Amino acid sequence: ATADRGDAPDFTAKEIDEQPAAARRLLDGLLGRLADGRLLTDLGLARPDRVRLVACGTSRHAAEVVARVLAVEGGVPSRVVTASEADLAVPEPGTLTMALSQSGETADVLAALDRWDDPVLALTNAPRSSLARRADAVLGLGCGPEIGVAATKTFTAQVIAGVAVALAIASASGRLAPARLAALEQVLDGLPARLAASAALAAAPAAALADELADRPGAVFVSRGAGVPYAQEGALKLEELAYRWVEALPAGELKHGPIALLGPGTPVVVVGAEPRERLAVGIAEVTARGARTVLVGSGEDADLPVCLPAEEPPWGPLEAAVALQLFAREVTVRLGHEVDRPRNLAKSVTVE
Ligand code: G6P
Repeated sequence: ATADRGDAPDFTAKEIDEQPAAARRLLDGLLGRLADGRLLTDLGLARPDRVRLVACGTSRHAAEVVARVLAVEGGVPSRVVTASEADLAVPEPGTLTMALSQSGETADVLAALDRWDDPVLALTNAPRSSLARRADAVLGLGCGPEIGVAATKTFTAQVIAGVAVALAIASASGRLAPARLAALEQVLDGLPARLAASAALAAAPAAALADELADRPGAVFVSRGAGVPYAQEGALKLEELAYRWVEALPAGELKHGPIALLGPGTPVVVVGAEPRERLAVGIAEVTARGARTVLVGSGEDADLPVCLPAEEPPWGPLEAAVALQLFAREVTVRLGHEVDRPRNLAKSVTVE
């Protein structure tokens, strides 16, 4: 496929930039179809009692977000299954399997689906992929080609599409009140503008932080609750693009071992620290060891400022993902690595 990167220095930069527009297109097709689970009906799916989310890599982080929204808004039980570990997942009646794969060609995901007979909903950016053919229903991400090997716009799109499905299931199950759904749809509607604002706010600080931190051998990413998958995704971006050792974990787990890694200047990236009190103890522990905390959030003291809604939605600080993508890319550029084609990685892994 020929793709044009226009004025962008690399495809990854271009694709990071395209996220607000991709989010807008996707939301325009989804909002207004969530009440009473209309989206499910449109997809030809019955309301499930439980959900199994199957994915790898970045897509697995999106799956974690979706699982949380199902639980918080609908009380719907779900399980995130790492595709290559699917043999551990027992069949349960009334399950909908959601397979998240931007390429739709990941062999581990396709193989995992052979284990169960439940209906499969694919969330993919490739509507003609093997996964799309295998699935009973397909929700396309409509992001356009993603050339950079590290997923960027397909991650935010998977979160949005998955959250929409989760809210539709929650609404169909009668646990999500219409007024609450309407309020959440409004927060979703504002997401493209917040993604754009976050990219603008974070761009210069991400470059300055990269100047400061590019030569550090590793970094620890922490968050809490709904922010944890974004800490994991930010860490994965730095690992796959800049070849840095990373650790990503709930902030409360720091004290149970990983804090031993921290010394003077170790970068500790604190994601979506709102409300700040929830992370205060963890931050104090980190600063006491002389580590370099990098706060990603909408507070005035943020090192990597982003635009978050006033109240944290159940899908967490998705806007922070954009800032973390920018940071990982800036570090990679400083180190002279090829941004679009990191070593040892492939855009879609078609072997198990
Ligand atoms: C590869 C890529 C990752 C990606 C993973 C899953 O390992 O390098 O960036 O997250 O595959 O890809 P998928 O196409 O299934 O989302």
